[in-house]
Amino acid sequence: MALAHDQELGLSLRTLAPPGIIIGHRLITAGDEHALLPEEASAFERSAVRVRRASGAARIVARALLHRLGHEMTALPKSHGGAPIWPTGIVGSLAHDSRVAVAAIGTSENLEGVGIDVEPAEILSADLLHLVTTPRERARIESDPYRGRLFFVAKEAAYKAVYPLDHAFLGHQDVEIDLTAQEATLRSGRVVKLRFCISTHLVALAFLPS
Ligand SMILES: CC(C)(COP(=O)(O)OP(=O)(O)OC[C@H]1O[C@@H](n2cnc3c(N)ncnc32)[C@H](O)[C@@H]1OP(=O)(O)O)[C@@H](O)C(=O)NCCC(=O)NCCS
Repeated sequence: MALAHDQELGLSLRTLAPPGIIIGHRLITAGDEHALLPEEASAFERSAVRVRRASGAARIVARALLHRLGHEMTALPKSHGGAPIWPTGIVGSLAHDSRVAVAAIGTSENLEGVGIDVEPAEILSADLLHLVTTPRERARIESDPYRGRLFFVAKEAAYKAVYPLDHAFLGHQDVEIDLTAQEATLRSGRVVKLRFCISTHLVALAFLPS
């Protein structure tokens, strides 16, 4: 299946990944819902076509990345907690907003966990800003040109990186983002590394080297 790209985002994503992690994206396209394999589709039986389409698009991206690492047509079903199940030896993450799907993968040889999130490049509303950020983050809000949206995208990426390891729910107040240090510190004390792509969309990558 041909990849539908956002050229500007693609260029920015190239600079996002540290060595050992590969990232891809796709413009969500009508028909992407048909990319869900039977093992994957059962988790989306009650989902609207918009949701199935975005999840299908993310899996098209992930399968293209997996192909580069020598894995052919791998199903990525959802686990009980919602995280995708990757082939043995692969660590990865998926995300989508209303326009774009992204995926990031690496191998467990050099990666303990990885999380990715994508959001529209828009500022966060004042209501959401208070829900999503800690008082310390709000004191440094000028470090986020998107007034909280970068904190939001970073927290979701960090959550996705650690959930498959810790199986623990985290709220927005349980994760503190330091945009300068490019780190997320969880309430457990665990520190997750972060990288950001600011383009037509905001993308955060969170990762734990092994
Ligand atoms: C996991 C979560 C953050 C995903 O956010 P979202 O805005 O709904 O959707 P996104 O497009 O960003 O990501 C969806 C993908 O995340 C992945 N995902 C879902 N649950 C996951 C989990 N527990 N761990 C890791 N990845 C997960 C899936 O691959 C999913 O794609 P799929 O449905 O096509 O398989 C959200 O569903 C969730 O569980 N939130 C509760 C915890 C939270 O947000 N805390 C605040 C931040 S610390």
